Amino acid sequence: MDRILSPRPLIYPLPALVVATYNEDGSVNAMLAAWGCPIDSDMVGICLSSDHKTVENIHREKAFSLFLTTEDTIEASDYFGLVSGYKDPHKLETVGYHSRDGEKCHCPIIEEYSIGMECVFDHEEPDTGMIYGKVLAIHAKEEVMDANGHIDLAKAKIVSFDGESRTYRRLGEPVAVAYQSGNRFKK
Ligand SMILES: Cc1cc2nc3c(=O)[nH]c(=O)nc-3n(C[C@H](O)[C@H](O)[C@H](O)COP(=O)(O)O)c2cc1C
Repeated sequence: MDRILSPRPLIYPLPALVVATYNEDGSVNAMLAAWGCPIDSDMVGICLSSDHKTVENIHREKAFSLFLTTEDTIEASDYFGLVSGYKDPHKLETVGYHSRDGEKCHCPIIEEYSIGMECVFDHEEPDTGMIYGKVLAIHAKEEVMDANGHIDLAKAKIVSFDGESRTYRRLGEPVAVAYQSGNRFKK
């Protein structure tokens, strides 16, 4: 017999995305979001509560950046998810992180993350809180790249948010080749 559980976000792995925005005085805010996903090859969607400082900032600035939490950035990312910018307007300074402006749009690039995206606000769904952003550029540090110009997930040490155990989890080793493993069933 299956156990029947209440609905919850159970499509794994969930990301641990940092959404960075500019505050009205030009300082940088950041929050953590697990409810985010690709929508198209150059479009992301993040589901944000309307009471977040991040949402106010996106509405005003029409731009944001996204970063993938890695094993060495967990503590800062978790803090960004624990405390609102309304309470700590200088979250980046609190954790000792640094930023510069984006190359393609006016959004903060947080130096300490190895993989990030510059996004401009595209549209939103007020009913669901989904905010859609067009990705203008991806930033990846040299040390997370492989010899073929792809991001090496093993080198990047990206973590996933596990809402069941409320932990951040390391991604595992590859177990099979995609787009090939099912070949023997082809007719
Ligand atoms: C692991 C984790 C995942 C979270 N995921 C989301 C999310 O997907 N959407 C959301 O609106 N808030 C999410 N939050 C809560 C926000 O990150 C948190 O309320 C944050 O303080 C908002 O910051 P801001 O007010 O400065 O924007 C998450 C928090 C944690 C710790």
